[in-house]
Amino acid sequence: MAGRRFSGRGAKRGRTTAARSARTGLVRVRRAAARDLPALLELEGGFSGDRLSARQFTHHVAATSSDLIVADLAGAVLGYALLFRRRGSRIGRVYSIAVAPAMRGQGLGARLLLRLEAIARLQGLEEMRLEVRQDNAPALALYQQRGYVIFGARPAYYEDGADAWRLAKSLLPPRRRVRRIPARSVKKR
Ligand SMILES: CC(C)(COP(=O)(O)OP(=O)(O)OC[C@H]1O[C@@H](n2cnc3c(N)ncnc32)[C@H](O)[C@@H]1OP(=O)(O)O)[C@@H](O)C(=O)NCCC(=O)NCCS
Repeated sequence: MAGRRFSGRGAKRGRTTAARSARTGLVRVRRAAARDLPALLELEGGFSGDRLSARQFTHHVAATSSDLIVADLAGAVLGYALLFRRRGSRIGRVYSIAVAPAMRGQGLGARLLLRLEAIARLQGLEEMRLEVRQDNAPALALYQQRGYVIFGARPAYYEDGADAWRLAKSLLPPRRRVRRIPARSVKKR
């Protein structure tokens, strides 16, 4: 349930040194490991509700039904994203995605999402789904920019009673277009 706890507070789209490093590609997106737990909990500490617990993170690092990835800059965890999938289902679920407040607006959220989609495709998933707070403008913009479309709503989905949008994106390649040869370029015999 991505966005289960997040308000729509706009990310400050500033440019710190570390942020510029993120832009220039020094940030590595990798699978989370047990050693990332303190940093992940620190990220979660910035949210007011529905936080992922140490136990949940520990479970997702090892679980075969989820993929937990982090954005790492020289060992510092700047963000994470979590994908869920169910046995026998072709639908993946972006359960959570978060970037450290000082690092927002620098492309990390988009990179994490892109990587989750790549992982999902490799696993044969055909569709991604997620929920996002209806008042979370930055997250909604991120998803819509990446091709997610609203297909439903979940009223009072969050702890504080806020409503969620349900979004989905197909992971299948677009159908190959039939290449038409212009009539005049076809030689007549
Ligand atoms: C949502 C979140 C993950 C986005 O991460 P981010 O690294 O700041 O996002 P990016 O820099 O990759 O931005 C990608 C796109 O998201 C949208 N976006 C990001 N911040 C935005 C803002 N403050 N206002 C409007 N759109 C914004 C834009 O479409 C942006 O594309 P652009 O830079 O070409 O305009 C981040 O704001 C965050 O961690 N928020 C708190 C947790 C949260 O709400 N998670 C989402 C749960 S559903």
